[in-house]
Amino acid sequence: MPWDPIKLNSGHEMPTIAFGTWKLGNGDGPINQVDQAISVGFNHVDTAQAYRNEAEAGTAIRDSGLTRSDVFITTKYSGLNGLDIKTSIQNSLKNLGVSYVDLYLIHHPRLAVPDIPTAWKEMEKLVDQGLVKSIGVSNFGVNDLAVLLASAKIPPAANQILLHPYVYAMQAPIIDYARKHNIVIEAYSALIPLTQRPGGPVDVPVKELAKKLNVAPEQVLLAWVKAKGAVAVTTSSKKDRLERYLDAGDISLTEQEITAIDAAGAAGSRNAFRKLLTSVLMFAACAVLTVIGLRK
Ligand SMILES: NC(=O)c1ccc[n+]([C@@H]2O[C@H](COP(=O)([O-])OP(=O)(O)OC[C@H]3O[C@@H](n4cnc5c(N)ncnc54)[C@H](OP(=O)(O)O)[C@@H]3O)[C@@H](O)[C@H]2O)c1
Repeated sequence: MPWDPIKLNSGHEMPTIAFGTWKLGNGDGPINQVDQAISVGFNHVDTAQAYRNEAEAGTAIRDSGLTRSDVFITTKYSGLNGLDIKTSIQNSLKNLGVSYVDLYLIHHPRLAVPDIPTAWKEMEKLVDQGLVKSIGVSNFGVNDLAVLLASAKIPPAANQILLHPYVYAMQAPIIDYARKHNIVIEAYSALIPLTQRPGGPVDVPVKELAKKLNVAPEQVLLAWVKAKGAVAVTTSSKKDRLERYLDAGDISLTEQEITAIDAAGAAGSRNAFRKLLTSVLMFAACAVLTVIGLRK
């Protein structure tokens, strides 16, 4: 399962597939799920203030028997309860029960208050204080990254973004920009073609490849993420699926196979745009007819 670690611009290494705790809720559920992920071989846990289960993730990590340096912990500043970055990281460390996190991200550019340069200075201080090994961002666009880099002393190590074939064309400029500036792209929700848009054009190449390679469709999509040079941030409640996710690290797609998935994704996003446009036009037409009807 060679999801080989990647070297960040901070000099630290990051495992290239992560188990995420979004939507896992609280209590024993998330503890058991993080425990299950670690037991099958995940050594990167992705959480956030906003997920409200850092404490559960921390419990599972501590109970796993892994030493602190054997597990990579990402958490995010989500502006929870209006708290500032300095207070939030202290709370996250307390919740997780650790003295540092490996990667701390600003969850969204709108949380970088009062502005990106000022918020980033606060993030840089956390590195100097040894509370976080690397700092990065999430959901940042090219302009946000440019503003940040213009005054940064420490460049962001990663940008965690939505990345699946239906949004690939839209996200490509961010990916290119990140590559040029040695910022690692982390892909979240890569399985949306299966979870939220089954029956779309991406199903065709993904199913064909799954059959040809004798793997599951989710493995094809994770192999596609890997082929794009991104770190996969995913999740599953099922042990066998988690094992398949790890095994997907062995799949190498050809240029032709990647291009087929990209093309299906682009076709799907055009269809979605057309559908949206049609419903907006229909809505506008109905509104006009209603107004005309009311006047008569
Ligand atoms: N930075 C951000 O703003 C942000 C936003 C969203 C997410 N994230 C991070 O990314 C992580 C993953 O997000 P996500 O849940 O959206 O990711 P995802 O990897 O796209 O989806 C994971 C889900 O896919 C399901 N799945 C896998 N294979 C499937 C198949 N063949 N058919 C149907 N369903 C299938 C799994 O269900 P089962 O449980 O049934 O296996 C699981 O719930 C989050 O936990 C979080 O850490 C970050």
